[in-house]
Amino acid sequence: MGAGESSGHRPGVGTRTVKGGDPQAPLRGNAVTGRRRVRVLFIGDIVGNPGRSYVREQLSGLIRERQPDLVIANAENAVDGRGLNQRAADELYDAGIEIITLGNHAWDQKDLSGWINGDHRIVRPANYPPGTPGRGYTLCRVNGCDVLIVNVMGRAFLSQLDCPFRAVDAILREHAAVRHVFVDMHAEATSEKVAMGWYLAGRVSAVLGTHTHVPTADERILPGGTAYVTDVGMVGPRDGVLGMNRDAVIRKMLTHLPVKFSVAQGPRQFCAVEVDTDDETGRAQSIRRVFMAEE
Ligand SMILES: [Fe+2]
Ligand SMILES: [Fe+2]
Repeated sequence: MGAGESSGHRPGVGTRTVKGGDPQAPLRGNAVTGRRRVRVLFIGDIVGNPGRSYVREQLSGLIRERQPDLVIANAENAVDGRGLNQRAADELYDAGIEIITLGNHAWDQKDLSGWINGDHRIVRPANYPPGTPGRGYTLCRVNGCDVLIVNVMGRAFLSQLDCPFRAVDAILREHAAVRHVFVDMHAEATSEKVAMGWYLAGRVSAVLGTHTHVPTADERILPGGTAYVTDVGMVGPRDGVLGMNRDAVIRKMLTHLPVKFSVAQGPRQFCAVEVDTDDETGRAQSIRRVFMAEE
């Protein structure tokens, strides 16, 4: 399949937790309307081994406690802070992540382009040029609902890809009947993310920002039922610079000489958001920040 083509339905994806008919789960339904929510846990950029290990340690408990119907994570930094390989992807799947999104570091691990077409659970930015390996969105079935996950990348201070706004428009046109749509807007500029939120308000379930690794406190529901946050944050070492060794980053900024960056060590943090949507309309009902950190 080429860029932006549908990956088709994925029975098995998102069916790990079947929510219907469980009387022990008051959050799952509305006793008056009979409707159920679809709960999505979206985890911010996972950075290196510390990020992956923290996901391994924390995610199963979080899934048990919060009962998400679908777990999505941005894994553009999963291998040494740069890109994704098969081993890291398998590790994240084993930990409970069901869909992986990417960003500007998508191709840093060179082997990914060789196998990404065969893994419909991985989504790279949709606005890469036609012919780029992989897919810009994927469709899965969760709680009886079709859920579309889209990844786009901003252009301010990043590569000059195709227009991310028009890229999402084209995908939405193709999937007009899908009500649950989650967009990972991977961008450096806050303005570009806010603009994307407003551009898609009322047309998608959520616009969730990634890439800057620092969680923002502006989570809200935009008019029309679109959950929005400028940046979800990251899972990784909290005492580095965006997860990387701070001494190396500072040395680079002071000297402008070539410096080798590596993933920082030390206490880790876990940043995610939890979005609940109405299972019939796909409109977001709530967005909640999830934050954990070691001392
Ligand atoms: Fe990142
Ligand atoms: Fe990024």
